[in-house]
Amino acid sequence: MPAMKNTDTVLIIDFGSQVTQLIARRVREAGVHSEIVPFQSAEAAFKRIEPKAVILSGGPASTHEAGSPRAPQIVFEAGIPVLGICYGQMAMCVQMGGVAEASDHREFGRAFVQVEKDCPLFDGLWATGQRHQVWMSHGDRVISLPDGFQIFGRSEGAPFAVFGNVEKKMYGLMFHPEVVHTPDGAKLLRNFVHGVAGIEGDWTMSAYRDKAVADIRAQVGKGKVICALSGGVDSSVAALLIHEAVGDQLTCILVDHGLMRKDEAKNVVAMFREHYNLPLIMVDAADRFVSALEGESDPEKKRKTIGRLFIEVFEEEAKKLGGADFLAQGTLYPDVIESVSFSGGPSVTIKSHHNVGGLPERMNMQLVEPLRELFKDEVRALGKELGLPEHFIGRHPFPGPGLAIRCPGGVTREKLDILREADAIYLDEIRKAGLYDAIWQAFAVLLPVQTVGVMGDGRTYEFVCALRAVTSVDGMTADFYHYDMGFLGATATRIINEVRGINRVVYDVTSKPPGTIEWE
Ligand code: XMP
Repeated sequence: MPAMKNTDTVLIIDFGSQVTQLIARRVREAGVHSEIVPFQSAEAAFKRIEPKAVILSGGPASTHEAGSPRAPQIVFEAGIPVLGICYGQMAMCVQMGGVAEASDHREFGRAFVQVEKDCPLFDGLWATGQRHQVWMSHGDRVISLPDGFQIFGRSEGAPFAVFGNVEKKMYGLMFHPEVVHTPDGAKLLRNFVHGVAGIEGDWTMSAYRDKAVADIRAQVGKGKVICALSGGVDSSVAALLIHEAVGDQLTCILVDHGLMRKDEAKNVVAMFREHYNLPLIMVDAADRFVSALEGESDPEKKRKTIGRLFIEVFEEEAKKLGGADFLAQGTLYPDVIESVSFSGGPSVTIKSHHNVGGLPERMNMQLVEPLRELFKDEVRALGKELGLPEHFIGRHPFPGPGLAIRCPGGVTREKLDILREADAIYLDEIRKAGLYDAIWQAFAVLLPVQTVGVMGDGRTYEFVCALRAVTSVDGMTADFYHYDMGFLGATATRIINEVRGINRVVYDVTSKPPGTIEWE
């Protein structure tokens, strides 16, 4: 990954905390660029990035256990500010010559810090003698401070809740400033990066855009780039950025697999061609995909078939263009961060996600991934900066395999058509009720079940449609959306009245876990 060498970066060394990403968020919210690396590869990253400051995350280990992780010693010898959080505080303590041990008095959850002394971290925020709420999660404690360190705050269970060495600009916090349950936490982190480390908060989206454009030009040179445009926010923003950088050296390919929502392919193509004048090829491959899927009911086989065909079609189109040197992808930062694994074991595959994996090797292309340093909401901000309309940026996520995984049981053309109509009505009702932005994702599912109904004095025997709507932050966990029953009733009536083939509507009230958001 190209390092942002001439950007002032804070390096976050991850010891495996569940909330390390939040540290990066808070630092970026302070207008400062940050990168997370696992402790195992921190030394190389430190040398590559030349950070202006380092933050050590929390983690599940204890410093007194044999083989417990440490930060590279170079971090403490480089003369730059270091902030240790929870386990990171303990690591800093022992690596600077102090002593820590397991504590009988564990503290989890809400606690209060008593401010003992003024400290640059507290500037303009906490005064001596005050008590402030924080969020603790630790089982270790410091028993002797490193030379030159002093205590700035204590809590009932942690006499060394805040310690530091003002001259060395090194501080340790027993609590987690990155979580919202430490109400002043974001401000403490801001004080660290601005006040203590003296980094200016000028990492804005507009600055990022200029830098990304220059980086793309440097990487691509006179080469040809192709981009698989799905119509989603990530690939759209990546395409616009690359187009700004290298103009018509970029060609976008939109493969319409016949599994998109109503009018989606048409609308996306119109937007990119009309508003951005971006070279875009639309391939109508609906027949090919739907024929291959016809009758397939195994979710994994559906996903694999779609993935395989997508690569085949994309490759054929790319060859027609005479090939390309680069493949653009909208990979985001959360997909790039290497997770810290203490066991080294792989995690279980719940679903095979659809992407263009394997293509770059097959076609001998290099990757251009201009979003790999951004979080999703940062991509949205960049999209806005690039002029994408608000309603496009705020769209719900849509899975690569599209409506095929919303047709449990065999996929048929007829079922896809029925589902597309029901889904369009459902989303229309959501928008009209002003609920679209409050919901993270909403869609209809066509069940492989027919039930008896009565319409206009006649018997019907048609499909059941399930409606799904969830709230979520990142799609990893989710709760079902709590609609008003009146809304559900009116939407069900409209779907049954307007869509031939559906005579019953149900609402899915499963959270994730145990369910997943999609049905397959
Ligand atoms: P699940 O169903 O795993 O979905 O709870 C979490 C989020 O991921 C989306 N999703 C996909 N997105 N390719 C994608 O690009 C896929 O194969 C895929 N499968 C699920 C899903 O819509 C939800 O937002």
